[in-house]
Amino acid sequence: MMLKVSNLNKNFDGVVALKDFSLELKEKEIIGLIGPNGAGKTTFFNVLSGFVKPESGKIIYRGKDITNSGSHNIVFEGISRTFQDLRLIRQILVIENILLSFNHTNGENIYNIMFNQRSWKKIEEQDKQKAFELLEYAGIKDKANDLANDLSYGQQKLLSLICCLAADAKLLLLDEPIAGINPEMREKILNIISELPLKGKSAIIIEHDMDFIERICSRVIFMDMGEKISEGTPSEVRNDPKVIEAYLE
Ligand SMILES: Nc1ncnc2c1ncn2[C@@H]1O[C@H](COP(=O)(O)OP(=O)(O)OP(=O)(O)O)[C@@H](O)[C@H]1O
Ligand SMILES: [Mg+2]
Repeated sequence: MMLKVSNLNKNFDGVVALKDFSLELKEKEIIGLIGPNGAGKTTFFNVLSGFVKPESGKIIYRGKDITNSGSHNIVFEGISRTFQDLRLIRQILVIENILLSFNHTNGENIYNIMFNQRSWKKIEEQDKQKAFELLEYAGIKDKANDLANDLSYGQQKLLSLICCLAADAKLLLLDEPIAGINPEMREKILNIISELPLKGKSAIIIEHDMDFIERICSRVIFMDMGEKISEGTPSEVRNDPKVIEAYLE
């Protein structure tokens, strides 16, 4: 098992955001996390990526307990995420957003920067090349030197996915990757996500769009009020009376 999350609990001033929430994920698996607004989906990502501390529960990632690791360490462990509200740096270039997303274990080392200019330069060159490759892969190479702010909303969503790929994570957490974008961009993003297993990567995808989830995920988890209500294939979950009831409430 790549990821084993057990019995996470998180409350915000009495509001239950996660209640005994558990989840397992295999290598190269893509699962969908669905549920109504306020169900706790983003909170789960916040806990898993180290931005929010759970009150109880355990997260084991590739055999290591990361429950209390900070967000920075979790990125180093190989988990990278996108945000529902994107959080790109809008006043710098598209290419610079990608360069900032690379995950160096030694390149960032202050010693290397101060005393080994040559090796730093080399890393910089390699990064630039990789960043252009990613932009080419996403089909927005011509935007490399635009401000992130000048991209369309769909292109910004695409860029945040590309930044997530740049971190070279094994596990990607994608929070509503296609919400509010046009059908063409949606297909593009769907294709990039579909190729993740071929690259040895896994993903958990939060999305309200069930058609999208069905096309991309073999397994779906439905949550409501912090709790896992249903789990199975997309059609099993869609037809689960508990899910239908939760949506009607
Ligand atoms: N930092 C916070 N402080 C206080 N309450 C929070 C915080 N983060 C989340 N909550 C509350 O926890 C609950 C779960 O929120 P969360 O954002 O995880 O839902 P969600 O499933 O992602 O919803 P959506 O589909 O609208 O994005 C909500 O009631 C929300 O108001
Ligand atoms: Mg959310």
